Amino acid sequence: MIRKLGYLGLWFVRARFMGRQSPLQTVLFISDQCNLSCKHCLVYCHEQPHIKTYKQVKEELEYSYRIGSRFVDFEGGEPTLWRDGDHDLNSLIHLAKRIGFFSATITTNAQQPFSGSEADSIWVSLDGLGVYHDDIRGSGSFDRLCRHIATAAHPHLSVNMVINVRNYMSVEETVRFVRDSPHIRSISLNFHTPYAGTEALFLDRERRLEVIDLIIRLKRQGYPIMNSVSGLRLMYLLQQETKRQCWVTNFIMPTGERLKECQGKIAGVCGSCGFAMAGEMQAVFSFKLDTLLAGMNLRL
Ligand SMILES: C[S@@+](CC[C@H](N)C(=O)[O-])C[C@H]1O[C@@H](n2cnc3c(N)ncnc32)[C@H](O)[C@@H]1O
Ligand code: SF4
Repeated sequence: MIRKLGYLGLWFVRARFMGRQSPLQTVLFISDQCNLSCKHCLVYCHEQPHIKTYKQVKEELEYSYRIGSRFVDFEGGEPTLWRDGDHDLNSLIHLAKRIGFFSATITTNAQQPFSGSEADSIWVSLDGLGVYHDDIRGSGSFDRLCRHIATAAHPHLSVNMVINVRNYMSVEETVRFVRDSPHIRSISLNFHTPYAGTEALFLDRERRLEVIDLIIRLKRQGYPIMNSVSGLRLMYLLQQETKRQCWVTNFIMPTGERLKECQGKIAGVCGSCGFAMAGEMQAVFSFKLDTLLAGMNLRL
């Protein structure tokens, strides 16, 4: 704990006062193979998926560690499908810890069982209740998700919702569902980012603001919402101004391409970005106390 705190403190001082931009966290896509075809997603590839080898992931983890990252999230595609010989997703989690990462997490669609996962925390993608989730992710996917999070009984499982024109009316009931679930700790709320071909799902600015107001209200009522109030406010403002801190995360794509910033920049969608982390990082660098506390809670 002391070691982690020391590293985080030093990283922050260097970044905030000395302008040193080294990433703190890594999003590592281990494949683009997936068992769903969600309406909002451009990552999956069913024809000829890229599936990384254990050796490739090891090199990518070592590179990320070298450039400063200490937190890794394994993503895909669907990461729980990943295998290389005797190695599975738990092998990658052990590997990351051996290299020195402070924590290794996974983001999953929860369409197959993941009990036995040794990830420090698990993010399950939940895009609304029942029919709302199924509308985006496919028929039966909500029921499978509920079954698998119940059997996983992982002590650090949270959900991640991406809000768009088809599910924004389900935000409140989804937040209530999370509060009432014995298996879910909290919810992180994000908005759809309109990558080419998915623009029709983009929630217009006025509606986005209404939803942000609703989320802030629910948060103040004590619902287990991971976003900080400052991060949420900045998430809206980020659409107008340009000072972003997205270099805090480095991305390693399914093709192996190494990006020091989010692919949204390359795609030219920063002005419509919906990733909660963008607002949260901006708030951290503006010394917003609620965000700093939320970040510490998440990381430590
Ligand atoms: C690409 S998925 C990979 C992990 C896993 N297959 C899953 O669905 O959780 C990672 C996250 O990105 C989100 N996502 C996909 N497309 C998005 C978009 N256009 N805007 C915002 N989030 C998006 C998904 O909802 C999911 O929570
Ligand atoms: S499950 Fe994840 S990777 Fe697969 S299509 Fe849906 S969002 Fe994309």
